[in-house]
Amino acid sequence: MARALVLGATGHIGAHVARALLAKGHQVRAAYRSDRFLHVLDGLPLERVRVNLDTLDGLREALDGCAWVFHAAGYYPGFRERREQAITRGISSTRRVMEEIRRAEPSRVVFTSSASTIRRVSGRPSNERDVEPSPLAGWRPLYAAVKIAMEHEALRAHEAGLPVVIVNPSVCLGEYDAHPFSGRLILAFAKHRLPVYLEHIINAIYTGDVGVGHVRAAERGRLGERYLLACRDMTLKAFAALVASAAGIPPPRWRVPYGLAITAAWITELIAWATWTEPLLPRQAVQAGRVGQRFDASKAIAELALPQTPIEEAIRRALGWFEGHGYLRKRTSICAEVPGGATIYR
Ligand SMILES: NC(=O)c1ccc[n+]([C@@H]2O[C@H](COP(=O)([O-])OP(=O)(O)OC[C@H]3O[C@@H](n4cnc5c(N)ncnc54)[C@H](OP(=O)(O)O)[C@@H]3O)[C@@H](O)[C@H]2O)c1
Repeated sequence: MARALVLGATGHIGAHVARALLAKGHQVRAAYRSDRFLHVLDGLPLERVRVNLDTLDGLREALDGCAWVFHAAGYYPGFRERREQAITRGISSTRRVMEEIRRAEPSRVVFTSSASTIRRVSGRPSNERDVEPSPLAGWRPLYAAVKIAMEHEALRAHEAGLPVVIVNPSVCLGEYDAHPFSGRLILAFAKHRLPVYLEHIINAIYTGDVGVGHVRAAERGRLGERYLLACRDMTLKAFAALVASAAGIPPPRWRVPYGLAITAAWITELIAWATWTEPLLPRQAVQAGRVGQRFDASKAIAELALPQTPIEEAIRRALGWFEGHGYLRKRTSICAEVPGGATIYR
């Protein structure tokens, strides 16, 4: 059994990685930054250590004695950030963290990248061989450009001798999503704040399967390889219908064209700028949906035995967790529209 350090253990993916490790009998050291989200680890028999990857405070001590390191604390560019600065920040933060990890000489490092680093191809689903050569090649949403730059940095660390395996999850849905990012999509539809949908394709996977995929990447993943952790391709309309069905509300009815959606996103960002809040619909989300691609996860299924839990179950678990943690009003039996467009559950 290995002792494993999980960076970003209070995050959506990190919380599942920690649980998947414990389920296999490994010892887990869970690194968190802020106390605010520690509740996602409640009741788990693991060691908790505070680590700040911006300053590297606590990282050296956290790495001490750990054979495996999972880096699921990657930086997300905010909607206020400029493109070049965000890419530079992604590169420098990954480089500094990987250098510090290298000094500790672990036997495996699993780096959480993203499926957004994989190039779209026409005529077939994309896979790990569809490499995006540079963060600046062609047009990509800011999030994808930053993730490509960070993944290149992780691969550079591997070339310099660090035993790195890369995992590339698609849209992760499930419990313990305390800082909802992909979960925001579920919340938006479930709260009925999105009565409309875009004609996009997304690929989603249950986050519990992503946690298992990380552990298997450490156990049997090939060094320097990428593994796409993906499950089901579906249109946003089909996804919204699944959320609506699980939440007991009507599915969104109106399809909006891309031009209208991006304009609406601009407006929500302007409101967010003015009120210093997060936008309801970030432009990155609309742009990422437009890139929308189908994925072929057969490499991870064959080499890592990646589980493929049905997406209906992932949505059900996410909704249950959001309800239990105050992100969503609890449902009983009837759902009703209230003035102002919000939906309440009685
Ligand atoms: N969720 C998805 O659908 C998805 C899909 C593909 C790829 N990914 C990638 O997977 C990674 C993890 O995603 P996630 O959804 O689990 O994110 P998340 O829920 O936002 O969690 C991020 C975790 O990293 C920690 N963290 C962030 N910056 C840190 C810093 N500077 N120092 C120390 N800890 C820091 C956070 O700590 P606090 O609790 O203190 O904030 C939190 O524990 C990201 O790189 C993301 O791009 C996510």
